[in-house]
Amino acid sequence: MNKFRRIGVLTSGGDAPGMNAAIRAITRKALEQGVEVMGIIGGYSGLINENIIPLTTGAVSNIITHGGTILYSNRCVEFKTEEGMQKAIATCKKFNIDAIVAIGGDGTFRGATDLTLHGVPTIGVTGTIDNDITATDYSVGFDTAMNTVLDTVDHLRDTCESHARCNVVEVMGRDCGQIALQTGIACGAVAICIPEIPFDEEFAIEKIKSAKAAGKRGMIVMVSEGVTATDENGKKIPYGEILEARIEEETGIETKFARLAHIVRGGSPTLRDRLTATKMGVFAVELLLEGKSNRVVIEENGEITDLDIVFALTTDRMYKNKLKDGDLDKYTEEEIAEMHRICDKRAAEIKELYEMSYDICK
Ligand code: F6P
Repeated sequence: MNKFRRIGVLTSGGDAPGMNAAIRAITRKALEQGVEVMGIIGGYSGLINENIIPLTTGAVSNIITHGGTILYSNRCVEFKTEEGMQKAIATCKKFNIDAIVAIGGDGTFRGATDLTLHGVPTIGVTGTIDNDITATDYSVGFDTAMNTVLDTVDHLRDTCESHARCNVVEVMGRDCGQIALQTGIACGAVAICIPEIPFDEEFAIEKIKSAKAAGKRGMIVMVSEGVTATDENGKKIPYGEILEARIEEETGIETKFARLAHIVRGGSPTLRDRLTATKMGVFAVELLLEGKSNRVVIEENGEITDLDIVFALTTDRMYKNKLKDGDLDKYTEEEIAEMHRICDKRAAEIKELYEMSYDICK
């Protein structure tokens, strides 16, 4: 006998291709188990504003191919207040929502934990193009975003080649360089610049000069949006456009700048994202039906599994050097060692790929 009769599903934070596939899987798996599903519109704000719709098998037909999220998304500030939380809880009671699956990134999981603390069992599913949730090897949307970058940069390369130009391409990823690093290697960039590894501008410029001397015409330099410089007023500014000017000045090669921005976030999800989203969605419903709560569904070494959300968020802060006083107090030595293991794994993955790119990106 299921503990839950009705669950809610929401998407929050930046949308990511594959979120619809997760909504579809959650809905169908739950219905199959005799549990009704309500779609919460506009992320946590839908809980505050009672913007709730029933989801049926038919309602999620033909959405697996669509980017974005049929439930819409936003970053809800009111939900962080006690008043907002009380309204959200009241909505759950009014609509008989016994538990929630929240699809998104770290902000979404903080909200999920707050809901759990207020008595609404919640499971998180990792969905963000940035792949910046430290505790998971993979987050839904990452593969599609990278393929969109590749496709766009292939177009840029054609025109760079024709005109013997360099194109500096800035891609999203917030403070995480994964999109820039992996697409930079895959699109044959001559240099890659990411927040995690200090960028040797001089070395990159020398590489571009030698490539030009060796007869290379079109060149791509990939920069993550997370890399910034400081202007004369001490304000942080994106580094990509600065690098564009420096390359042109130092090498004499006509250099253009392209910010791919939100283009990278849309589009039909790849097989990888549709499949991973489906597996994670099904797993999330299974966790809820097993009576689990405050867990986040992750991928580790190719397997779908789960972790305590607060453990995952704390590991994330550890990796991003954002630990607050007392964050580790409740954890055992073994648990803290496990957090370090996860952080070291992430850092090593990036370092290894970046070092490999030194020899290949020319
Ligand atoms: O987290 C996804 C992401 O697309 C980041 O890569 C980017 O920095 C941010 O969201 C942009 O946010 P917004 O859509 O609110 O401008």
